[in-house]
Amino acid sequence: MSASVVLVTGANRGIGYEIVKALVESPLPYHVFLGSRDVNKGKTAAASLHPRSGSSISVVQLDVSSSESIANAAATVKAEAGRLDVLVNNAGIVDDSPDSLTRLRNTLEINTIAPFAVTTAFKPLLTVQPEDGVKGKRLIYVSSGLGSIGQRVDSKSRYYSVPAVEYRMSKTALNMLAACDAFDLKDHGVKVFAFDPEFVATELTHSPEERRKLGALEPSVSGESCRDIIEGKRDADTSKFVSINGTDLLW
Ligand SMILES: NC(=O)c1ccc[n+]([C@@H]2O[C@H](COP(=O)([O-])OP(=O)(O)OC[C@H]3O[C@@H](n4cnc5c(N)ncnc54)[C@H](OP(=O)(O)O)[C@@H]3O)[C@@H](O)[C@H]2O)c1
Repeated sequence: MSASVVLVTGANRGIGYEIVKALVESPLPYHVFLGSRDVNKGKTAAASLHPRSGSSISVVQLDVSSSESIANAAATVKAEAGRLDVLVNNAGIVDDSPDSLTRLRNTLEINTIAPFAVTTAFKPLLTVQPEDGVKGKRLIYVSSGLGSIGQRVDSKSRYYSVPAVEYRMSKTALNMLAACDAFDLKDHGVKVFAFDPEFVATELTHSPEERRKLGALEPSVSGESCRDIIEGKRDADTSKFVSINGTDLLW
């Protein structure tokens, strides 16, 4: 069996790193492209991982805000692997600029426009099947429960009092992108998911320690849950907004 070819953006740390780790420790074979805007950080991250026999990691420079970097990364994946089986749009930010309009612009740029640009560049590779058989093709957008409009208006929601308007808007728009791609790619055999990795201890805001005190889960939980999607365990939830625990969320 040939290895599934996967690209994870923003994979030098946090949830992206844990997704790569979960994949290369899986009994199934993967060739993972670890996307990192700073290639040295990507190499350091890759060096700390120990792929099982049959799996491998290539570090690819990928600044999701740069058209040139995206095009170069797509050319690298094409040259090294000839196709892409799974794209995980994971890179994301919480912007803390003092001015709300600047925050909105910066946040939309990385959390919404950049994944649109990355998917657009990689769609031709996502629809190529390997010569030795059919691969499970999947496109995953790492979203957030904060992007759920249904939860925003639910006073019983855990995050009802969290403002984060710019971040919420960016992830709501990302969810619409996932829904549109689910339609666009259904006839190409690509299953699309918007994925909420839950509240986890990363450096997205504050420190991992501070986040743990607020009840954050370990990012490895998100990484393993994303691997379940990649390995087809959540295929019944295709075209949905999915949580880590096997349920789907209100859009
Ligand atoms: N942590 C949570 O509780 C939580 C909850 C819901 C959703 N999420 C989502 O999960 C995803 C990963 O977040 P995380 O918690 O793992 O945060 P993180 O630890 O801050 O990691 C974010 C990653 O995105 C990368 N990134 C940022 N801007 C980039 C750019 N322009 N080009 C390429 N990479 C870029 C970062 O690279 P650098 O190291 O170079 O900055 C880093 O690798 C995000 O989409 C986030 O919105 C997180």
